[in-house]
Amino acid sequence: MKYFLDSAKMDEIEYAYSTFGIDGVTTNPRHIMLSGKPFMKAITDIAEWIKREGLEGVSRFPVSVEINPHLDNADEMVEMAQKVAAVSPNFVIKIPAVEAGITAARRLEKMGIRTNVTLVFAPSQAILPAKNGSLFVSPFIGWKEANGEDCKEYIKNIVDIYKNYGFYGKTQIICAAVRTPKQMVDCALAGADIVTAGLGVYQDSMKHAYTTQGLGTFMDAWDHTITD
Ligand code: E4P
Repeated sequence: MKYFLDSAKMDEIEYAYSTFGIDGVTTNPRHIMLSGKPFMKAITDIAEWIKREGLEGVSRFPVSVEINPHLDNADEMVEMAQKVAAVSPNFVIKIPAVEAGITAARRLEKMGIRTNVTLVFAPSQAILPAKNGSLFVSPFIGWKEANGEDCKEYIKNIVDIYKNYGFYGKTQIICAAVRTPKQMVDCALAGADIVTAGLGVYQDSMKHAYTTQGLGTFMDAWDHTITD
């Protein structure tokens, strides 16, 4: 399973890449806002970092960038997507799972611009992106579970549908808005291709009280042993 970092902050991207070897980045308008930079500056900074690291190529290190969420017709979506895609060969255009978004994603994929259909909350919304060849589909986990839903079956259903029709692995399933290590594990068990989460979730995934306790036990033993 691939790990993407959900952030537009350069310090977090650099840290997560050098520490955990993350496989890509996802952003959305909220993450761009939180970077504190204007939109074009935020995505250009990511593009320049990709070049410095020698990570060019969408299959090498994909970075999802969402177009203006106010756009509600396919022509305008395609126009903005082309401008964003011109900034870096690594950029994948994030488009909402609405009718105009599907039309735009279909056109963009035909032009060779890769797409990530986002804001997916039901398996039915994940089928058209796969039929039209989007690179990624992003079913959201955290937002649903914050409202009391359990997402294991929701993800498993998308995985099973994709397996039934030969989409599995072609349109890759990014479990998005993953907030906890348990949700990461649920997504992995369901067969998702990718999770995307904030830095803290990856850090928390390596924490366990028994690991801390065990280290304490071993430190104590070390301190009561002649070790030279
Ligand atoms: C998808 O790539 C993101 O995880 C999604 O946009 C939601 O992220 P957020 O809820 O952390 O903003």
